[in-house]
Amino acid sequence: MTEQPEVLITEEEIKKRVQALGAQISEDYKDVEDVYMLGVLRGAFIFLADLSRVLTVPRRVDFIALSSYESPSTAATGAVRLVLDVRAPLRGKHVLVVEDIVDTGYTLQYLLRTLQAREPASLKTASLLQKPDRLEVPISIDYLGFTIPDKWVVGYGLDWGDRFRTLPYIGVVHPPDEVA
Ligand code: IMP
Repeated sequence: MTEQPEVLITEEEIKKRVQALGAQISEDYKDVEDVYMLGVLRGAFIFLADLSRVLTVPRRVDFIALSSYESPSTAATGAVRLVLDVRAPLRGKHVLVVEDIVDTGYTLQYLLRTLQAREPASLKTASLLQKPDRLEVPISIDYLGFTIPDKWVVGYGLDWGDRFRTLPYIGVVHPPDEVA
């Protein structure tokens, strides 16, 4: 049995940061007709739900899902693919990709390339978390919640083998093989 995840970012800290990001995004998009928020399933569903509700500008919500890849090199060669696509064309839309976490950056790089090819009016990224020590590709995140150390985190949508997604805080799990 795995122990309960150790708190890294509290529920209160997440709430404050999401509110601040929402204020910043609302300011940046104040002249835009509609922000097309695109959540990446499954990890981003809670972040998207909270972020979309603190925005003060008109917005729509949609989801995409990616096939998981075996290793970052598989992603780099394009073996990642969309398994659930958006319902409407993105051409001319102001697209804001909403991610849970950027680790190596391969997933986001693949997504941004794929979405850019559809000629949106603008394409930006919000991610709740990033592990800067793990980044392998030059990706910049427009709206970042928190940078975290190189640990496996769960909660607030993120999972470990499909567990802990609904924890209200971000916690660190110590897989059994790590425990001496
Ligand atoms: P990347 O392509 O290496 O940047 O991987 C990004 C994806 O890996 C995220 O969208 C998550 O699904 C998953 N991931 C990476 N690190 C973690 C973690 O610490 N906890 C949960 N999921 C993670």
